[in-house]
Amino acid sequence: MLTLAVAATLTALAGGTAGVVESPAAPGAAPVAAPTTVPSVIAHRGASAYAPENTLAAVDKAHRLGVDWVENDVQRTKDGELVIVHDDSLARTTDVEQVFPGRAPWRIKDFTAAEIRRLDAGSWFGPAYAGARVPTLKQYLKRVDHNRQKLLMEVKNPALYPGIEKDMLKVLRAQGWLDTAHVRSRLVVQSFDAASIRAVHRQHKGLITGFLGTPKVADLPTYAAYTDQINPQHSSLSKEYVAAVHRLKGAHGQRLRVNAWTVDDAANAKKVKGFGVDGVISNRPDVVRAAMRG
Ligand code: G3P
Ligand code: CA
Repeated sequence: MLTLAVAATLTALAGGTAGVVESPAAPGAAPVAAPTTVPSVIAHRGASAYAPENTLAAVDKAHRLGVDWVENDVQRTKDGELVIVHDDSLARTTDVEQVFPGRAPWRIKDFTAAEIRRLDAGSWFGPAYAGARVPTLKQYLKRVDHNRQKLLMEVKNPALYPGIEKDMLKVLRAQGWLDTAHVRSRLVVQSFDAASIRAVHRQHKGLITGFLGTPKVADLPTYAAYTDQINPQHSSLSKEYVAAVHRLKGAHGQRLRVNAWTVDDAANAKKVKGFGVDGVISNRPDVVRAAMRG
């Protein structure tokens, strides 16, 4: 059951638009077109070129663009609430410096959830987003569910938050995200921190996980023991590297996958598609989707 469920998710992540796969050619027949697949498109921090990153507005913008996968960054407040912010400080993406002067460097782990609720996480991006809030993980999951979207969730800076993997699983469970339907096709957990991904895999063997980075080819089998995806920066990729990843099976017995980040222009979208990646993580998901479909 578990294997079937995970296989379905991996298939979903392999591509949004499967191409035509024809029958083997009869002798002498014209060559059969090779199967083609358009990589999945994942909205990075939501559709973050168009709405403030990691806010519910960025999730909704991805939804309006017809993008079903969103990526986010999970960190933890002083009093243990999980919130969606990229930097370890609140300074760049909120008005924390005005609301709490004298609290430099305004680290998330030094603020309570109630304090963070007071912050404006939208005005820095544009006046149309004034009043947007830093979402909690709970609020974020509810919105993604409401939109029938899927989540590539990053455990961000886990070394700053010992035990965050357990906290995260608790919230996922409470929000219904560890049922078969979500685990099968709507959730992937990733991190730059291999120990964090190993911890997630150990604590919930069914979850699909991804490692952010470009490990040496010789080290890939070690990662494949506990993860299902290798998600590298696009400039570090080559066709040969993608092929080396694809030669391995991941933690759930399916082909190890590759999602490239952060691709925001047509030329690079076409390039990584040519390398054979399974997914592309983008601030401009509409742009890369159009380029890869073309
Ligand atoms: O999902 C890939 C990407 O999010 C990794 O980089 O710094 O944007 O979290 P960063
Ligand atoms: Ca991220």
